[in-house]
Amino acid sequence: MLGFLKKLMDPNEKELKRLDGIVQTINDLEEGIKALSDGDLRAKTSEFKERLAQGATLDDILPEAFAVVREAAVRTLGQRHFDVQLMGGIVLHEGRIAEMKTGEGKTLAATCPVYLNALTGRGVHVVTVNDYLAKRDAEWMGAIYNFLGLEVGALVHGLDYAERKRIYNCDIVYGTNNEFGFDYLRDNMVLSGEDIVQRELYYAIVDEVDSILIDEARTPLIISGAAEQSTDLYERFSKLVIRLRPGEDYNVDEKARSAALSEEGWARIERMLGIDDIHDQSHF
Ligand SMILES: Nc1ncnc2c1ncn2[C@@H]1O[C@H](COP(=O)(O)OP(=O)(O)OP(=O)(O)O)[C@@H](O)[C@H]1O
Ligand SMILES: [Mg+2]
Repeated sequence: MLGFLKKLMDPNEKELKRLDGIVQTINDLEEGIKALSDGDLRAKTSEFKERLAQGATLDDILPEAFAVVREAAVRTLGQRHFDVQLMGGIVLHEGRIAEMKTGEGKTLAATCPVYLNALTGRGVHVVTVNDYLAKRDAEWMGAIYNFLGLEVGALVHGLDYAERKRIYNCDIVYGTNNEFGFDYLRDNMVLSGEDIVQRELYYAIVDEVDSILIDEARTPLIISGAAEQSTDLYERFSKLVIRLRPGEDYNVDEKARSAALSEEGWARIERMLGIDDIHDQSHF
């Protein structure tokens, strides 16, 4: 009797039941999806996008989209998502943490929510712990996504601006937290909007979340500029600044320990440098 009561009250039990219900719906769709030709299975991607455009929510299409990914995995990798992998996928779609033991197949489990969220066209990021895994997973799971008509990119170290921009425009991007983090910081420092590489951030799945959000988070991401150039500039400008007139070209705020140029000061500096507009980007 006590056991029965405990079962009745256990919130985890209730949650598992809810997830199991969704998994049943996915399983019930399997027969129909299995009967589709490769072309028809692939066409599901545009059908889902169409339904989203007409007002359906991701939750509405979740069971069918998951069933489609499972069938695509069977046809490309010869692996059929286990029910627990679908459950993990639902939890990840809901923005929560799913704990799966080592070797249980987290890579494949992530493909369902990744595909579902990529249908919005807004870009899905999968955060991995190192470059090797980003490349491996993008290629490995890429078989499923490509089969379904989605583009996948691997964001690894050493890529140039054009390559980064292209990769961020893919439907799905696998990369390390360092690459995503540094691109985010650099995007916040650009002088022109065209130089931004990331799109608006939408949805991400973090592999090995304890390692990335706890262990790795202890090391801050720091961007530092080229020291030689800045020392050089400091020296050049220190020679100009002493020629400015206090009170006229600049004002000192003792309390804030700062000094700011006046309109006249800006104009004077421009004259000294022989330029028209100091804010013109070509001078940076
Ligand atoms: N549904 C499945 N059917 C058959 N094989 C599977 C299935 N899911 C995963 N595997 C296989 O299980 C192995 C482990 O998968 P994976 O590397 O994704 O595990 P993991 O949970 O990420 O482990 P780790 O914690 O070591 O990173 C892989 O070889 C994968 O191909
Ligand atoms: Mg893994």
